[in-house]
Amino acid sequence: MQSRTFTELPPLSLYVHLPWCVKKCPYCDFNSHEQKNELPEDDYVNALLADLSAEMPRIWGRTITSIFIGGGTPSLFSAVAMETLISGIRALTAFSPSIEVTMEANPGTFEQEKFTGFRQAGINRLSIGVQSFNDKALNALGRIHNGDDAANAVSMARTAGFDNVNVDLMFGLPDQTEADSLDDVQQALALAPDHISFYELTMEPNTLFAKRPPTRPDADTQWAMQNNGIALLAEHGFHRYEISAFSTNGRRSTHNVNYWLFGDYVGIGAGAHSKVSFANSGDIIRRWKIKHPQRYLDAAKSDPDKIIGGDTTISFEDTAIEFFMNALRLVDGFPIPLFQQHTGVSIDHWQGAIEAASQRGLLRQSGFELKATREGFDFLNDLLDCFMPEQSDTSDTDSFRYPVIPLTRD
Ligand SMILES: C[S@@+](CC[C@H](N)C(=O)[O-])C[C@H]1O[C@@H](n2cnc3c(N)ncnc32)[C@H](O)[C@@H]1O
Ligand code: SF4
Repeated sequence: MQSRTFTELPPLSLYVHLPWCVKKCPYCDFNSHEQKNELPEDDYVNALLADLSAEMPRIWGRTITSIFIGGGTPSLFSAVAMETLISGIRALTAFSPSIEVTMEANPGTFEQEKFTGFRQAGINRLSIGVQSFNDKALNALGRIHNGDDAANAVSMARTAGFDNVNVDLMFGLPDQTEADSLDDVQQALALAPDHISFYELTMEPNTLFAKRPPTRPDADTQWAMQNNGIALLAEHGFHRYEISAFSTNGRRSTHNVNYWLFGDYVGIGAGAHSKVSFANSGDIIRRWKIKHPQRYLDAAKSDPDKIIGGDTTISFEDTAIEFFMNALRLVDGFPIPLFQQHTGVSIDHWQGAIEAASQRGLLRQSGFELKATREGFDFLNDLLDCFMPEQSDTSDTDSFRYPVIPLTRD
């Protein structure tokens, strides 16, 4: 049995999940629930802080480099609740001086005063779920806002003092044309955000769209939409640094880059996931919390240990696939020594797979960096297949498959 040794632990982020939305969108498979009654704001903030307190012995002495408050629709919460949450987290943990604190916001929930309050509460990055500026497309997506609301949301964010704003866009929408998709990118650029996430709409199992799929553009049109979007974004100084992420200089998402580089993260809230490395034992442990919001709240009140849905240790055999699944999404790949720093084992164990992938033209070394080639990037599953453990592997991850994109999409 191979063991891990950490000379230094990876950076540590915090993910906070707020699971309610005004209305469930038909394409969404996030742990989000229609808000039917009054939001249990106080109880939920108390539960989150009890959840974090219970996690503290696993992360004593470590500094938090980023916080991501995702959902659901966190912007449904009041600024006062957000202030209580952030000051509670600050009292329990140590923040790095340049900490990035992102909150997801839906354009249908914007009020100037509330967003000024969010900024004052310590949130310094907003991720706005625009999706499209086209009212017909927004309607087909079941969104609660129109194109004007989306544009106003960005200007309200600026007025509230946010100097780091992401806009989420999707392409491949019901009945969307190539011109419609390019127009969405153009309108997003006109608002001059700092970061744009440009996702292909995917049909997720257990959603309304999976049961009753809408008419969508064919694969060639979607491919063209993606390439046209990437070219227009590049012309305006938005560099693609991950499959779906584009940023202006210095505005990459610290939080998501930490996921992609196999950093550590603690997740609090209903259904939140964690991945934490331990220097003493050399283990890397994934943990997830109870998914249903009411059951999560009940467990937090009775005994915070009952919030835990399960734990699993990442096996030695699964190390490479776990790491590469994330790191090879980054256009620049990763510095080779970082593999050992963040996994506790030497990359040499996978030399054969690296050579095989390189010979197939899917992977290449450039200086000290290992990255996917253009082909490897476009056919990432073929590249990842090279790092899959043998079928005979006795790893213990069968009971739990984590998402490739860990917790957030921005
Ligand atoms: C949890 S949602 C965040 C914000 C907020 N709930 C909203 O929708 O405005 C994160 C982002 O994931 C993207 N997303 C959600 N479901 C998707 C799907 N099926 N395919 C592609 N992108 C999706 C959307 O761009 C969305 O803004
Ligand atoms: S896409 Fe966003 S607003 Fe829509 S249901 Fe999912 S989390 Fe809620």
